Amino acid sequence: MTPSILSMSVRASTSSPRAAVQGQEDLRKLERTMNRINAALHDAEDRWDIRDKVTKLWFRELRQVAYDAQDVVEEYEYDVARGRVHALDRTLGATSGHKRKRQEICTVHNNSGTAAVPVSHDLSARARQIRETFDEIIKDFDDLRLFDNDGERRVDTDIHRVRHTSSFVFEPSIVGREYDRQNVVEMLLSGGTTDTNPISVLPIVGMGGIGKTTLAQLVYNDPKVYQSFEEHAWVCVSDHFDIENITSNILTSLVEEWSDITGSANLQSALINKIKSKSILLVLDDVWNDRLDCWQSFCSPMLAASVCKIIVTTRHENVARLVQTMPAYYLTCLSSDNSWLLFRQFAFEGQENTHQQDLVTIGKKVVDKCKGLPLAIRTLGSMLRCETNEEKWSEISENELWDIEQAKSSIMPALKLSFNHMPVYLKRCFISLSLFPKEYALRKDEVISLWRSLGLLQSDGRNDEDHIGIFISVN
Ligand SMILES: Nc1ncnc2c1ncn2[C@@H]1O[C@H](COP(=O)(O)OP(=O)(O)OP(=O)(O)O)[C@@H](O)[C@H]1O
Ligand SMILES: [Mg+2]
Repeated sequence: MTPSILSMSVRASTSSPRAAVQGQEDLRKLERTMNRINAALHDAEDRWDIRDKVTKLWFRELRQVAYDAQDVVEEYEYDVARGRVHALDRTLGATSGHKRKRQEICTVHNNSGTAAVPVSHDLSARARQIRETFDEIIKDFDDLRLFDNDGERRVDTDIHRVRHTSSFVFEPSIVGREYDRQNVVEMLLSGGTTDTNPISVLPIVGMGGIGKTTLAQLVYNDPKVYQSFEEHAWVCVSDHFDIENITSNILTSLVEEWSDITGSANLQSALINKIKSKSILLVLDDVWNDRLDCWQSFCSPMLAASVCKIIVTTRHENVARLVQTMPAYYLTCLSSDNSWLLFRQFAFEGQENTHQQDLVTIGKKVVDKCKGLPLAIRTLGSMLRCETNEEKWSEISENELWDIEQAKSSIMPALKLSFNHMPVYLKRCFISLSLFPKEYALRKDEVISLWRSLGLLQSDGRNDEDHIGIFISVN
């Protein structure tokens, strides 16, 4: 954060003493406003997923005010620094003899604030103008904002509801995962449990939409796997790791009917009774929790089983590291052949022999754009399914993914989830990468110096900016 200009002694020397005091006051107010805006923006970015347009616009305008304010403050700091240098020059010029000079230099450093640093009329006026804009934004926001009781809210499609998964998979539609399925099955069945710890955990890790859930479904339904366990449960966890809720869902999945048991302790003892001395396979789909205490508390009833194997699907390597007792399985994108196969399945279904060669050529370009991500291939494939107009196909192949309407509603929200889960400092670093051209090969040192120059790296006392930058870029 910008060092406080209030801490600098300002003996403003604008035209009159009153104007000087006024200039100083303008800057004080501006700095306070800037600090408040920055704190509010930081909190908002950290805690809220802001969806309504008025609030978004409001924050954008506030951010602009904060930038303008920072410019004014920095210009003033520059004036102060220049004033110090001039004072130092004058002192050095006017003195002679080493001892004397050293004393004078110390005096100048210690009392640098005594140098007259005028707050220019221009800065003072800009400071007032920025404050006025700020007041205007605040007032307009209060006037325009809709409150919860201003009529019924339209229900927004809640991404978490849409993301709910089950163990069911329609296997014939899945392409290119036979090798992965075999690997995971083998790892799962051979992964050892010990006499003291019956729990073993195999994480499946990969980016959003790559097919982790799909692979877990294939493994869960694999006959060899199924026969190896007496009990089986599939639970969709999602980003809120609510132990009570997850335990209740495991019970429901095990007894195949809704469990009306409530309370953490009751649920855990019911679960213990159900799985005691049995072998159980558990899939925890879509885990984001990275707290060890929560994980341990969740696992404690599983110690009653004779064998408990858990498959965890997650986007995050640190989640995998926290839970794994065997090496994580890193899922990669589909090969280009399998990507094409999947796309063809959706785009040309039922018209295998009739599709025009031109559409095939454009379709291949569309598939290239998806970079082997099944979620994107499926979305664009089904979007073009009933489309015979070649121009429409070309449009899709030429547009960016985020400009395509269907992708906006299915792929982007899934990918945005990862963004929402980033801490604020990472979000800012990530956003700054948009300054590089698309497909640009990023170099670590280049990226770190960009972050440093944008002021995004702040030493935490133990590590300097470069170390923080290296840490972020690795993560
Ligand atoms: N190999 C595949 N063949 C066909 N369809 C697939 C394949 N892999 C994934 N899909 C489809 O792609 C979509 C995304 O897959 P999935 O939900 O398994 O991804 P995910 O990695 O679990 O994503 P998230 O991190 O968002 O949970 C789903 O509609 C799924 O059916
Ligand atoms: Mg998933």
